[in-house]
Amino acid sequence: MRHNSLFILLTLAVGLAATSAFAEGDDIWRRNGYEKISIYWTKGGKKTLLKEWYLAELGQWKLDGRAEKDPVTGQMVTWSGPRMSKLVDIALRGMNLHDRGTVDILVVRSNDGREVAVPRAVVRKYPLILALMKNGNLLESQNKPFKTIVPWTSMSSIKETPFPLNKYFVAGVKEIELANAAEKFGKFVLSKRSDPVALRGERVFRWSCMGCHETAPKKFLRDSFQITQNDAIKTKHSSIGSYMPPLSGNDVRGVNSYLDAFLREQRILNSE
Ligand code: HEC
Repeated sequence: MRHNSLFILLTLAVGLAATSAFAEGDDIWRRNGYEKISIYWTKGGKKTLLKEWYLAELGQWKLDGRAEKDPVTGQMVTWSGPRMSKLVDIALRGMNLHDRGTVDILVVRSNDGREVAVPRAVVRKYPLILALMKNGNLLESQNKPFKTIVPWTSMSSIKETPFPLNKYFVAGVKEIELANAAEKFGKFVLSKRSDPVALRGERVFRWSCMGCHETAPKKFLRDSFQITQNDAIKTKHSSIGSYMPPLSGNDVRGVNSYLDAFLREQRILNSE
């Protein structure tokens, strides 16, 4: 194991790209399933493997180097790895246009069971990377070979988006599932789709609120309705030391309309 790591490190660092010994199918990588990332596609609950890459293969791609603040330590770190958008584009090749168009989220899963849904639009618009290295050292040496990195320091305009960006830094990524948000969050989709304010709120709730809160049991939905009614989002969240995305007055009003409509549809709130 130690020898392997050293060898990869040398290969990557010295850049013996084309002549590398790590061609696909190399035995070393078959024995280390851990150092492999898989890209899946789900539709109608069916999960299909689209692509798998071994660390050493990705190491031979053109790597992006970006200096970004680590959300945990707050320190500036240089991360290197391929662009996420490139992984997605290659994985989706060969799928028909219609199916490709239905993919609007990337569900990023880690070895320790964490999962976060990143909008595909964010990956299209901003250069997120799948880091293989941190300050020139392989992340593999910490048993977490892949980490998603958001360019929130180098491209601060991304902070104007309503997304919980710190949540999108996922260490130890083992798979990325390309999926459809309406299917994945189906339970939280309004059936009545005529009120634009509520529909805006549905989006904000899905991406901003659920991005952090992950699940939404009845009690949480009711409490959320309460705090959005009183515009108490800020006070309820004042103890969050970490990153909180900017939510406008319209976003909060939207979430309130959405929750009102949703809770009625689900008969959690009674109609007056
Ligand atoms: C960046 C992450 C983040 C985002 C985005 C976020 N929350 Fe929270 N929220 C938290 C954390 C962490 C707490 C616990 C805070 C505490 O204990 O002081 C919390 C607390 C709450 C609470 C209090 C009840 C509870 O479960 O502790 C409610 C209700 C709530 N959030 C609703 C919302 C709604 C609605 C939105 C979207 C408009 C939202 N949150 C967006 C992280 C987030």
